[in-house]
Amino acid sequence: MLYLSPQNISAADESIARAAYILQHNGVVAFPTETVYGLGARFDSVTAIAKIFEAKGRPQDNPLIVHISELNQLNMVVQKVPALAEKLISAFWPGPLTIVLQKTPNVPSQATGGLATVGVRMPSNSIALALISAVGVPLVAPSANISGRPSPTSAIHVREDLAGRIDAILDGGEAQVGLESTVISVTENSIVILRPGAVTREMLEEAGRVKVLVPDYNLSSAPLSPGLKYTHYAPRARVTLFVGQAVAELPLQAQKLQEQGEKVAVVAYDDTLKNVSGDCVQLSLGERGQVVVAAKLIYAHLREADNLGSTQVLIEGSETEGLGEALMNRLRKAASQIRE
Ligand code: TXA
Ligand code: MG
Repeated sequence: MLYLSPQNISAADESIARAAYILQHNGVVAFPTETVYGLGARFDSVTAIAKIFEAKGRPQDNPLIVHISELNQLNMVVQKVPALAEKLISAFWPGPLTIVLQKTPNVPSQATGGLATVGVRMPSNSIALALISAVGVPLVAPSANISGRPSPTSAIHVREDLAGRIDAILDGGEAQVGLESTVISVTENSIVILRPGAVTREMLEEAGRVKVLVPDYNLSSAPLSPGLKYTHYAPRARVTLFVGQAVAELPLQAQKLQEQGEKVAVVAYDDTLKNVSGDCVQLSLGERGQVVVAAKLIYAHLREADNLGSTQVLIEGSETEGLGEALMNRLRKAASQIRE
């Protein structure tokens, strides 16, 4: 597996050009985006798409997101763009918003898990944009982790999961957002959030001036987005999420478990960590209220807890407004138990 570290952020950069060459020849390459690292393949290469599913151990019916670098690539992959989608595109692209639209026959059904729709986004990371431009066609890219593991927010995380299974990694440092993109579908006059992300409900309401529907992801029985039915983001340890009033019990609970012989890791805000026994591993989410910081750190902490052999991970929940909605969505999925 090639490790590539771009010197210049342009399609002419040697690392980006090598990565593009591999992709053009049906290889698979991990690359940075502003959300998390993606594992890319040409959108139209059935051979390369099969390699993605194989490398990740991903269920075949879980569709991939198509990444474009220019607006004129959109009509290559989708049938038509409704007026509401156009409005959202001009407000949020390039950026962490994936829009599900009717696909064209150019997109192989292997890429969409057999669906007639395809999720598309234009990432804002400049290495991602330069790479797509250098390849010359859109790239499909799921998060570059083994299925079921936390998404990678650095090249090191990608290497941990996929070394030897993929052709190359393009290192672009740490992902700025740290959580995967918002996935939406649109009708004429409403937006449905299939997966919350950094483009929040509030932002969509403001830009779209329509109703934004947010299903209860914990209750919905028929999955809106195939990816939602799989357990995600779960470290190997038992994870307990503390919410609201229950946060006050976290330090004592951590100490009890540690005394029972468990290897405890606590992922919490500094305010809470102050009261946690020094015997536990402490992974800071920073200052309470700074959800942007917590979102950026969470997946690295879940991996760290695993790497240290923790048997119990106790996590402090956050507010649910703004980006907090996406963070809490991921934490609820990672948790085997929730105390509130
Ligand atoms: O931020 C991101 O979106 C990252 C970076 C690499 O762009 N990618 C990512 O991909 O998170 P992945 O494959 O890990 O998650 C894609 C999600 C899944 O939950 C999938 O079910 C949903 O998007 N999705 C993709 N296409 C869809 C479609 N046609 N209809 C409904 N949901 C779709
Ligand atoms: Mg993923």
